[in-house]
Amino acid sequence: MSNANIEAFKARFGALPAVCAIAPGRLEVLGNHTDYNEGFVLSTAVDRATTVSMSPVEGTVCTIHENGKDCTLDLNDLTTYVKGDWRNYLKGLILELQKRGAKIGAFNAELSSTVPLSAGMSSSAALEMAFGFALKTIFKIELSLPDWARAGQGVENNFMGLKSGLLDQFSSLYGKKDSLILCDFRTVEVLKTVSMPAGWSMVVANTMVKHNLVESDYNLRRQSCENALAAIQKKYPAVKALRDVDSAMLESCKDDMDITDWKRAKHVVGEDERVMQGVKLLEAGDIRAFGALLFASHESSRDMFENSCTELDALVEIAKTLPGCAGARLSGGGFGGISIHLVESDQAEQYCERLKTAYKTMTGKVAETLICGIGDGARVL
Ligand code: GLA
Repeated sequence: MSNANIEAFKARFGALPAVCAIAPGRLEVLGNHTDYNEGFVLSTAVDRATTVSMSPVEGTVCTIHENGKDCTLDLNDLTTYVKGDWRNYLKGLILELQKRGAKIGAFNAELSSTVPLSAGMSSSAALEMAFGFALKTIFKIELSLPDWARAGQGVENNFMGLKSGLLDQFSSLYGKKDSLILCDFRTVEVLKTVSMPAGWSMVVANTMVKHNLVESDYNLRRQSCENALAAIQKKYPAVKALRDVDSAMLESCKDDMDITDWKRAKHVVGEDERVMQGVKLLEAGDIRAFGALLFASHESSRDMFENSCTELDALVEIAKTLPGCAGARLSGGGFGGISIHLVESDQAEQYCERLKTAYKTMTGKVAETLICGIGDGARVL
């Protein structure tokens, strides 16, 4: 992919690029909506990525060539948001980097991606981090990796209006081939990496239900978590985030808050507990028990956080009936998008076919599946 991207840059702009940067999409394996509650997530980078080749040019107009077509971006017009235009992410990123002191000039770029769009694999974080790493090299921007993740989060929070956490950018940066990373979003670091269990694969099944977090209830869910936190802090002043709350503490505050806020917090607190338990099970090689946690996570999303939908529920219910699957759950923001399935590698292809057939019967819709490789994080070639 990256060589093809460099070749395409050369064919369009007549010279080799000064830099080629690549940033992958991610999968949230366990730990749903815990990131902005300073909690834990088990995630991976995938072997599908966004690639940006780039060279600096004079003036203020950037030319970006993608899929055989040119589009431009004027550095004098970075603040206009255009609905549905991918350049919003680039505008937002340049603004975030300028806030952090970067001096960014114009450039030519070739853009390509193998991360499915709007599906829950964080194509937007891959785009932000690929452009970020290309800009970093050309314009000598010095930021720590957590600050790169924060710059990407700033794009979502300040330009796109999505109050997301750090998971997507963080996983795109820190992912490690064939491993799961245990992320701590209080200290913003990888606590440990755990190998993907030998003989097991991640199957991604896309509901093909449109997934647009900006217009979803994502921000409302985050607000609910904050409401629950405020109520808990009255009883437990030492608590700084839902990360500090355990199930017993939450239970003791049940009557002090709105029942909906309590359900949202219940999901988050349960997810943090499941992540830590999950890591131990993976390290002990107990894949079946780990898979059961994936199913439990999905149930909690469905019943407590209410960020599932009929189609996601269908995929997870079918998973329970098919041979070779240890566990499955919705992955990412929810409200549509993808589910992940932990499947025995030698059964994975047949599993995908069976899943699609049953999904069509149950919902009348056509799912897309892929057996997803686990790749390394963002890098400059
Ligand atoms: C989206 C957000 C992340 C995270 C997940 C849910 O992917 O961008 O920050 O909150 O949803 O875990």
